[in-house]
Amino acid sequence: MEKKDLDWGSLGFDYIKADYRFAAAWTDGKWSDGELLKDEYIKIHEGSPALHYAQQCFEGLKAQTAKDGSVLLFRPELNAERMYMTAERLMMPPVPIDLFMKGVEEAVRANYAWIPPFGSGASLYIRPLLIGVGENMGLKPAKQYNFRVIVSPVGPYYKGGGVQLISLAVTDFDRAAPMGTGKFKAGANYAGGLLSTQTAKDMGANEALYLDSAHRKYLDEAGSANILLAMTNNRFVTPKSAAILPSVTRRSIMTIAKEELKMTIEERPVALREELAEIEEMAACGTAAVISPVGKINVDNQWHKFYADGEQVGPVMQKLYDSLTQLQKGEKADPYGWVKKVNLD
Ligand SMILES: Cc1ncc(COP(=O)(O)O)c(C=O)c1O
Repeated sequence: MEKKDLDWGSLGFDYIKADYRFAAAWTDGKWSDGELLKDEYIKIHEGSPALHYAQQCFEGLKAQTAKDGSVLLFRPELNAERMYMTAERLMMPPVPIDLFMKGVEEAVRANYAWIPPFGSGASLYIRPLLIGVGENMGLKPAKQYNFRVIVSPVGPYYKGGGVQLISLAVTDFDRAAPMGTGKFKAGANYAGGLLSTQTAKDMGANEALYLDSAHRKYLDEAGSANILLAMTNNRFVTPKSAAILPSVTRRSIMTIAKEELKMTIEERPVALREELAEIEEMAACGTAAVISPVGKINVDNQWHKFYADGEQVGPVMQKLYDSLTQLQKGEKADPYGWVKKVNLD
C-alpha cells in the first residue's frame, strides 16, 4: 500500500485527519464489537456528562515503522490497563483489554498509509478516547459510552525536534491533589493545567513543573511528562507521588537505567529545593516527549541550570534516549519483550 505524500520530516505534534477511526459503544450494559468509521465527527447529546462534568478519559501511544517495514507498538497493554483503571476511577465501564487492543490495531492497520516511514523521525500517534454520552443533566455517571481510537502522524512534541533541551517552570498552580485524579489519565486534569502551562511559557519555559500540592515541596511531574533525574553517585531517581501519571515511558526507562547503565534506581519523594544541588541531569519523559532533557528549571523565580550550564544534553539522558528509541524502532534486540508487531494483513 502506498504511503501518503506528506513531508514526514517536518511534521509537528498536530492533528492530521487520517482515513479511519475505530469506534465502539457501550449501551444496555455491554460493549459493541466496534467498527472502522470515516467520519471524524462524533454526534452526541448536548446533555452528555463528558461535556458537562468531564466524564471522559484518554490514552496516548505510538506506532513506529521498523527498518524491515514492520509496524511496532510499545507496551500497548500498559495503556490498556491504565485506561481500565482510569475508567473505574471515573465510574465509567472499563474498555475490556482485548477491545482496547483490537481498536488500536485496527486503527493502525486501516491507516497504514499514514504511518510515517522508517528514518523519518516521525511516528503515528494513537489516541484512544472514552466518553460518557447520552442525556444526563444531573451529576451522575452516564448511561452510555463511546470508545474511539483516532490516529495522527506526528513529529516531535517540543518544537525543534530530535533530542533538544527544554526548560520547566514551577508556577503558583497545582495540578492534582494526593487523593484526586492525578494518577489517572482524565481529561479534566489537563484543562486545569492549561493556564499553568501558559504561565510557565510567559516565564520563558516550555512547560510547567508541578510540586506536590499538599506541601509544595516534593517533585510531582511536568504538564504532560514524568520527571527523570540523574543524581550524584550514579543514582537514577524518579519522583514517587500518589498524584502523578504512571508513565509507561518512565517505567521502561527505569529498567533500562538499571539493566543497561547499571545505575542505582530510586523511586521516592524528591524534595526539590533540598536536593537540587545533587541533581546532575534532569529530563521529562513520555510517549510524546520521549526523553526531553531539561537544561534549566525555574523555582521560586530563580533559574537553576543542570549539566554543562544547561547548554548540552548530559551523558545519562543521551544514553537512555538512544537505547529507548532504538528499542521502539526495532533497531536493537528487545530483551524485555516490550515491542509488539502489528499484524498488517
Ligand atoms: C501528565 C502526564 N504525565 C506523564 C505522561 C507520560 O506517560 P507515558 O509515558 O505513558 O506516555 C503523560 C502522557 O504522555 C502525561 O500526560
